[in-house]
Amino acid sequence: MDEEIKTHHRRVRYRGTHPRKFSEKYKELHPEEYAADVQRVLQRGRTPAGTHRPICVSEIVEILHPRPGEVGLDATVGYGGHARRLLEELDHRGRLLAIDADPIELPKTEERLRRLGFSEEDLLFRRMNFAGIEKLLTEVPEGFDFILADLGVSSMQLDNPSRGFTFKDDGPLDLRMNPQRGEPASELIRRCDRATLEGILRENSDEPFWQEIAQAIFSSKDRLQRTGQLVDLVSTTLSSLKRRDATAERGKSIVRTFQAFRIEVNDELGALERFLEALPSCLRPGGRVAILSFHSGEDRRVKKSFKKGLLEGVYSKIAPDPIRPSGKEQFDNPRSSSAKLRWAIKAESVEGFAEGDVGIPSCEGENL
Ligand SMILES: C[S@@+](CC[C@H](N)C(=O)[O-])C[C@H]1O[C@@H](n2cnc3c(N)ncnc32)[C@H](O)[C@@H]1O
Repeated sequence: MDEEIKTHHRRVRYRGTHPRKFSEKYKELHPEEYAADVQRVLQRGRTPAGTHRPICVSEIVEILHPRPGEVGLDATVGYGGHARRLLEELDHRGRLLAIDADPIELPKTEERLRRLGFSEEDLLFRRMNFAGIEKLLTEVPEGFDFILADLGVSSMQLDNPSRGFTFKDDGPLDLRMNPQRGEPASELIRRCDRATLEGILRENSDEPFWQEIAQAIFSSKDRLQRTGQLVDLVSTTLSSLKRRDATAERGKSIVRTFQAFRIEVNDELGALERFLEALPSCLRPGGRVAILSFHSGEDRRVKKSFKKGLLEGVYSKIAPDPIRPSGKEQFDNPRSSSAKLRWAIKAESVEGFAEGDVGIPSCEGENL
């Protein structure tokens, strides 16, 4: 097996001095063998291919405050960066359930965390959508002491062109977190009328050129099969932009267009709403939840649900403002820059609730 990997490495060829394509980044894709190269990539503020850098880790540990003996849920385990830190806090004297919708990355994460010494006593994996977390109550009838959800997609998903999330490389126009379920973006687009396409672009990513882009997609929808075709289509549609920053604007519209279809294909906002609704019944009294969101559609829903829970006495305390990654974190990891972290603590009882004794980090940013 090792021999096979080494032979494969030697055969990789790329133009220029640095690999550009995901498949050429064999050193980053094998961090165990090329630790120093991976470190250099991190120092340049980039995420090594095939990995994910967890965001606001110390803030999340402070909010969730996992203690030995507790049972927690990582509802979006991804690469397992947050899970690893939460497990360290549990110190082999508690348990973490780790779930994710992605059947491709989840087994790799399980293998990675098992290699770090976390057995089934410490950590259990389930491939599932967090919209159905109530089902976990059959395994954890008392509910969880803490729950984390780090929304959106991982860098592994985003960077791998075969998953169809990236506009940087050509690949199938898929965008599914679970490619075994539902339909790829190309199919969804094919059955949409123009008004539906407009709604997807406007509501999922506030795209200012929603009409123009929807019209263009509608006119070529039967031919759109590849990510590169969608990139070219948006670019050509907005090529008449006369503004001085036209190139940057086109780039932003491409990002937003991919985001809008990703959210639609995975029903991300529907899943988040079902998760938020189920949360209180899945937390023990005094249980803590932290949610990292990456765009206004997500953050609005989290804020509204926590505020409603506070008014109804379901939560005893909620984040007054979203916590933002520090300036240093945003500089070191530009993918963290849109993140907003909110938390809530479940009331000890619905009448006359008492606060959990959790240390809460100071907040920056907008008011609730
Ligand atoms: C930002 S990444 C999480 C990264 C993780 N915290 C880490 O430290 O590596 C988001 C993950 O959530 C998963 N995900 C997104 N929506 C989901 C859902 N509704 N149910 C389950 N998993 C979901 C994605 O597949 C992805 O792996």
